[in-house]
Amino acid sequence: MREGRLVILPTETVYGLAADAGNPRAVAAVYAAKGRPAFNPLIAHVASVEAAREIAVLSPDAEILAAAFWPGPLTLVLPVQPGGRVCDLARAGLDTVAVRVPAHPLARAVLEAFGGPVAAPSANRSGRPSPTTLAAAMAETGDEAAIALDGGPCEVGLESTVVSLLDQPRLLRPGRVTRGEIETLVGPLAEAEADARRSPGRLTRHYAPEAPVRLEADGPRPGEAFLAFGPAPAGGEVLNLSPTGDLVEAAANLFSFLREADRRGPSGIAVAPIPEAGLGEAINDRLRRAAGAIG
Ligand code: TXA
Ligand code: MG
Repeated sequence: MREGRLVILPTETVYGLAADAGNPRAVAAVYAAKGRPAFNPLIAHVASVEAAREIAVLSPDAEILAAAFWPGPLTLVLPVQPGGRVCDLARAGLDTVAVRVPAHPLARAVLEAFGGPVAAPSANRSGRPSPTTLAAAMAETGDEAAIALDGGPCEVGLESTVVSLLDQPRLLRPGRVTRGEIETLVGPLAEAEADARRSPGRLTRHYAPEAPVRLEADGPRPGEAFLAFGPAPAGGEVLNLSPTGDLVEAAANLFSFLREADRRGPSGIAVAPIPEAGLGEAINDRLRRAAGAIG
């Protein structure tokens, strides 16, 4: 990374494609590898809250959320710290920066050894599901990386929760840290606003497999693969996100099962209803985007 090269880096959420956040050429290579539009900024990953304060200005709410959830699957959008090391391109020219302290031991070891902020979007090509295994990451952007680290399957399986703390606390992307957990600490969360400059990642279709996705399905139609949730008859094309109806297990399986369903070359992928409560909000957000229903 010090030479400006890219690294496939496991985190507890999804695999990232990591580069020195202070090196515009390295960051440009990340955008190119993903086919990502340059108006969509990257998350800066750091080893500690102290390191976060070097690149961003932490408000009292930010300090509270950082103390509660870092290291972990929460990203905070904050005013950029003047003189901080995250380059303009990584921030897509904004005066804000998205910061996260990941919990995965390999990610932490890399961040501590590197000693500066690391820009790491999910290692998928733009618009595709995020990789939750080394093999999936290699298939997406492996050719562009100098080295890949194998951290095993990602425990969370969905990208981090993104909360903007620029005016009032605002939920830009639901995730494993749930709305309820955040609201307990900082009060009601505003919705992601239509203003695309404030939440640029919401502009594009996301997480889409090859096959069309059909939501709230009772079961598969002929030719469809089926992602079940809860007790369901096992069958040839049925992949059960969680036979016991556990949302944590379903989140961890979601992207790898979408890939597996795709690999079978079905006419479509039908998905059983998932309850909206708690972590269900984040799962349904990804499913609606995969189905092209929002974004
Ligand atoms: O779990 C994760 O967050 C993973 C792992 C690798 O850490 N990373 C990840 O990065 O999901 P990415 O680039 O795929 O998603 C980052 C999201 C995008 O929706 C982007 O628009 C938003 O964060 N974002 C980044 N900087 C922002 C900013 N300054 N203001 C608003 N949104 C921002
Ligand atoms: Mg992504």
